[in-house]
Amino acid sequence: MAHKKIALIGGGQIGGVLAQLIAIRHLGDVVLFDIVEDLPQGKTLDIAEAAGVDKFDVSVTGTNNYNDIVDSDLVVITAGLPRKPGMSRDDLLTTNAKIMKNVAEKVREFAPNSIVIIISNPLDAMVTLFKKVSGFPASRVMGQAGVLDSSRFATFIAWELGVSVKDVNAMVLGGHGDTMVPLIRYANINGIPVMEMLERKYNDKTKAKEVIMAMVERTKMAGGEVVKLLKTGSAFYSPAASALAMVESIILDEKRLLPTCALLNGEFGVSGYYAGVPAVLGANGVEKIIELSLNSEEQSAFDNSINAVKKLVEDMDRLGL
Ligand SMILES: NC(=O)c1ccc[n+]([C@@H]2O[C@H](COP(=O)([O-])OP(=O)(O)OC[C@H]3O[C@@H](n4cnc5c(N)ncnc54)[C@H](O)[C@@H]3O)[C@@H](O)[C@H]2O)c1
Repeated sequence: MAHKKIALIGGGQIGGVLAQLIAIRHLGDVVLFDIVEDLPQGKTLDIAEAAGVDKFDVSVTGTNNYNDIVDSDLVVITAGLPRKPGMSRDDLLTTNAKIMKNVAEKVREFAPNSIVIIISNPLDAMVTLFKKVSGFPASRVMGQAGVLDSSRFATFIAWELGVSVKDVNAMVLGGHGDTMVPLIRYANINGIPVMEMLERKYNDKTKAKEVIMAMVERTKMAGGEVVKLLKTGSAFYSPAASALAMVESIILDEKRLLPTCALLNGEFGVSGYYAGVPAVLGANGVEKIIELSLNSEEQSAFDNSINAVKKLVEDMDRLGL
């Protein structure tokens, strides 16, 4: 069977790691595009030269020419600036919107039938803009944020409870900003509610609540925590790993249920906006959005997050981006 073709637009930190992960998993031939001359060629030559030890036979090539992404099955976009210490994701809006508009026009021209995963920040606004410019159907335009935010939440829970993170199920919904909504009630260790485990550990409901709220806060601020330490860029290993989970589910038609930035059409009481929700990802992209019942506290946190997304989209419209 012919390999699938996967184009990565943006050959920076996330793009480079993602190219290597896709090759190691044999998911498809990778074309890494960047506007910086020689950068994607250098990174992909380096990755390709590991084939002798990693034993992959997919091709990994770099380019500055959009002709090379022609007929890609899947496109992952990381083009744009990352945050610097002290910046919020929203501070990137003006610069990255201009970049995303250009990228969307090129993807529409050269890979009109592709499924697209956007990673560039501010995420929800960038996905909205890509959808508008490309005119692609909603099932083929999505964003990565929730897989990463959920992985961070799950990691903190595993550390706190001293259990393997493999057994932790945790989900974060809403926009990819400070208002994101880690769902405490649905978090569990192989079916056992996390709150039950925490209450047993501390034998104190108030303390258990304090501990979970500290983990929720750390999850919301986790991207900034890494930015502060790196000083010159933002997280890239975990974002690349998170994008890989989505790529794999689509390429292998796994139909995994992953928190995905998807266009809402009445689900969770929202219409016409992108936000993080549980979705089934398969060969057709976003195949289904799964609604779950939220209590009033969760729904109001979700609504608050949607309001932040709406504000970002309004800002983008007002700036004429
Ligand atoms: N969604 C998430 O979970 C998440 C997590 C972390 C970072 N991010 C975002 O992902 C983006 C990429 O992060 P990174 O660490 O890889 O940044 P990076 O600076 O290392 O890479 C971005 C690359 O985009 C390229 N680029 C700029 N303009 C371009 C254009 N017009 N066409 C093609 N490429 C272009 C740059 O040359 C650079 O190589 C940032 O916007 C960052 O904020 C998102």
